[in-house]
Amino acid sequence: MSRAVSMSTDPAEAGPDPAPSAVPSAAVTTAAEAPGRVAVIVPAAGKGERLGPGAPKALRELGGLPLLVHAVRTLVAARSVDVVVVAAPPNPQGLAEVQRLLADLPGDTRVVAGGRTRQESVALALAALPADCDVVLVHDAARALTPVDVVEAVVAAVRAGAGAVIPVLPVADTIKAVDGDQVSATVDRSTLRAVQTPQGFTRDILAKAHAASNPSLPATDDAGLVEALGLPVHTVPGHAEAFKITTPFDLVLAEAVLRRRR
Ligand code: CTP
Ligand code: MG
Repeated sequence: MSRAVSMSTDPAEAGPDPAPSAVPSAAVTTAAEAPGRVAVIVPAAGKGERLGPGAPKALRELGGLPLLVHAVRTLVAARSVDVVVVAAPPNPQGLAEVQRLLADLPGDTRVVAGGRTRQESVALALAALPADCDVVLVHDAARALTPVDVVEAVVAAVRAGAGAVIPVLPVADTIKAVDGDQVSATVDRSTLRAVQTPQGFTRDILAKAHAASNPSLPATDDAGLVEALGLPVHTVPGHAEAFKITTPFDLVLAEAVLRRRR
């Protein structure tokens, strides 16, 4: 990746690239037919309320470095990744801090101000992507320890012709549906998968999925928006270390994973 850091608090000022709505609505081309560059959108604008009081979650430290730095380091180290666009906490301090952190990393990294929901943060970053990126991954900053192999596998699956790809793991617990404190059903675990990021898409499909979404009913992942269009979503194997750091316990687990790696 070449060295370039740009910054914009307003996605409309982030570059000359067209907004997703400018993508032609003609038949979807697969990335395999028209190879371009690979961009990764990193939603990092969340508050981290379940982690407890403190800085926005992406800026909280793990092994002495912010979660966002762990996540972006892996992405810029991935051979298939060309550009990383981070949706930062939209307040002036959050934006300035993310810009400062990314300036110390190699690679083409950019910053936009995130939104009120994860879906809005992704949409704002999508609007700021360079025009020549035809494969787009979306990767939670909170999945700070995701191995680079998962990133490469998702890009490879999109390049092989899948329009939408998600890393998944089998579900270990028995899952039951409840109504209040009463069990209403036991769900067949063998057909369930826990879903991780990075999720990968052709740019056309991700842009169409976001354009068709309802911002007042935000989805918790991007593949859900693609499913709502009736388009197929493929799976690749996820990884235990790609877990989302959500609670204080997850941070303890992440510290242990990091210690074992070092
Ligand atoms: N995210 C975002 N913009 C938002 C909300 C979330 O970019 N408005 C990002 C988070 O920064 C995180 C990812 O989406 O990297 C997954 O969200 P989650 O784990 O829920 O993080 P938070 O929203 O920060 O945590 P919480 O829900 O506990 O407040
Ligand atoms: Mg959240």
